[in-house]
Amino acid sequence: MNQPTNPTPNDRRHHDGQTPIVDVHLGTDDIDKALRMDVEVGLLATPKELPPKWFYDERGSELFDEITRLDEYYPTEAEREILVEHAARIITTTDAETIIELGSGTSDKTKALLDAAWANTTMHRFVPFDVSEEFLRASVDELADRYPGLVVHGVVGDFDHHLPYLPTGDRQLLMLLGGTIGNYQPAERRVLLSTIVGRQRTGDHVLLGVDLVKDVDRLERAYDDAAGVTAAFNKNVLNVVNHRLDADFDLDGFEHVARFDREQEWIEMLLRSTVDQQVRVEALELDVSFAAGELMRTEVSAKFRRERFEAELQALGLEPMLWLTDLAGDFAVSVSRVR
Ligand code: AVJ
Repeated sequence: MNQPTNPTPNDRRHHDGQTPIVDVHLGTDDIDKALRMDVEVGLLATPKELPPKWFYDERGSELFDEITRLDEYYPTEAEREILVEHAARIITTTDAETIIELGSGTSDKTKALLDAAWANTTMHRFVPFDVSEEFLRASVDELADRYPGLVVHGVVGDFDHHLPYLPTGDRQLLMLLGGTIGNYQPAERRVLLSTIVGRQRTGDHVLLGVDLVKDVDRLERAYDDAAGVTAAFNKNVLNVVNHRLDADFDLDGFEHVARFDREQEWIEMLLRSTVDQQVRVEALELDVSFAAGELMRTEVSAKFRRERFEAELQALGLEPMLWLTDLAGDFAVSVSRVR
């Protein structure tokens, strides 16, 4: 990837240390192109597959928010517990001048860290990075109000493509929370992490929230809740394709499946076609058929073990510094230093 020396954002207000900046590197055209590609490739593949990033339209983001409040879905509260409990330690270990958060959403859990960092004079800039411009603008404004004097510099982008647009030059802590790294399969995960490491300097840090391997029943219930919120979230991806690409998926013709793959140690979410059916995707001039019982994967969510995960970090030039878990031992926050 080439490093832009002088990015030209669509919107850069004069920066006085108070007014938040938002750089937009992702237009609706780019998003549209990426969706078309992913849907065409995914529906023509065997087995069929759709990438999880397309869950999150407005309805999908609402459903995900609802998931984070379900009894069965423990990761959100477990990670919050870790960040609240260990914020000061994370801040002193990393001594960051800039904190970058990938996939920041509303930066809700991040406030625990920012509160601790704000009491420490080193950190002066927060860079939330998200695909949703709407979410980002709201959180940037809120954070600038909450921490007067903090430089809040939002970046709208897709972290599979726009990492080169992140600011550089000072001591950084880059964070990916919530277990989102688990959405990547091992090879893609190495690519993402080495891209991150490649643009950081010795002494910078990377913080990753990771869900841990545990009892299979609990894992599967976290992705197949009794109220059916996760099922609705999973099927919503079909609505996204219907609306954005003028397709005619019948949501009643599919059912939600969540299962733990013991070999790969990941949860898979899939949609099972309940009947033989044809689907037309008008915007792609594409007809696809689904056989009764056919499965289409929509997400993997990898679960980790400390030893293997830290060995993976080591191999990428990251020195594990902290491994913090909640009291129940369900979830971990890993902090590592760039060598
Ligand atoms: C946001 C990717 C961390 O994998 O647990 C929640 C998404 N999918 N329930 C996860 C999700 C189904 C979530 N991440």
